[in-house]
Amino acid sequence: MKKIVVLSGAGVSAESGIKTFRGSDGLWEKYRIEDVANYDAWLNNQALVLEFYNQRRKQLATVNPNEAHYALAVLEENYNVHIITQNVDDLHERAGSTHVLHLHGELTKVRSSVDENLIYDIGYNELNAGDLCEKGSQLRPHIVWFGEMVPKIEEASTLLHDADILLVIGTSLQVYPAAGLIHDTPNHCRKYLIDPGSLPVSGISNLTVIRKTAGEGVPDLVKQLLNEKSI
Ligand code: OAD
Repeated sequence: MKKIVVLSGAGVSAESGIKTFRGSDGLWEKYRIEDVANYDAWLNNQALVLEFYNQRRKQLATVNPNEAHYALAVLEENYNVHIITQNVDDLHERAGSTHVLHLHGELTKVRSSVDENLIYDIGYNELNAGDLCEKGSQLRPHIVWFGEMVPKIEEASTLLHDADILLVIGTSLQVYPAAGLIHDTPNHCRKYLIDPGSLPVSGISNLTVIRKTAGEGVPDLVKQLLNEKSI
């Protein structure tokens, strides 16, 4: 089976009703993402950070995967598919994708603030001050904040080393190291970028740019890829 790696960003979940981070419609209500997705904010204003992620979790419980998430799950019928997502939502999994690597963490999990290996499922519930891990420390959202290491970046890069096809969907490619992953593919890898915005992608070989939303562009491309495979 050929291997397809998907690098997804906030745009893939936009049509599910989750706002993106950047761009004209990308402001998060009363917060700037940099003000809350940040370790200093956790130290200096824990209540605000807890409230911010409680709201995100509550909203996540009310939205559903869209056509793009579902189409990517269908792709597994004929390809070895690995999704690397910058998103902290669980919409790829809920649509049926089975290999999903969350580069920036997961909303539905929390972890110890003294031992990063103590990770717990919280689902769509609230995390509050005083909720402790088994070692007695405050639990924090299981999110990679600005200024923190991205523990899964090596694993993600390795997934790309033998990719036959890369799909980059709904990401502004502004946040590193995630954005740099597009350079980790082998020479023969075909690349598709699906995003209605204009992105900094000059100088990338073998690239087809599809300026459509994920909900429009992904199902069409998936159909094309499934046909190709069956010829
Ligand atoms: P951005 O908000 O930076 O970019 C969203 C991208 O989605 C843009 O390129 C839009 O053009 C595109 N877009 C908007 N609507 C779309 C649609 N319906 N279909 C397809 N594309 C659409 O989001 P990310 O690139 O994901 O990190 O941001 C990367 C990281 O920055 C996030 O993971 C987050 C953020 O700060 C953390 O929270 C650590």
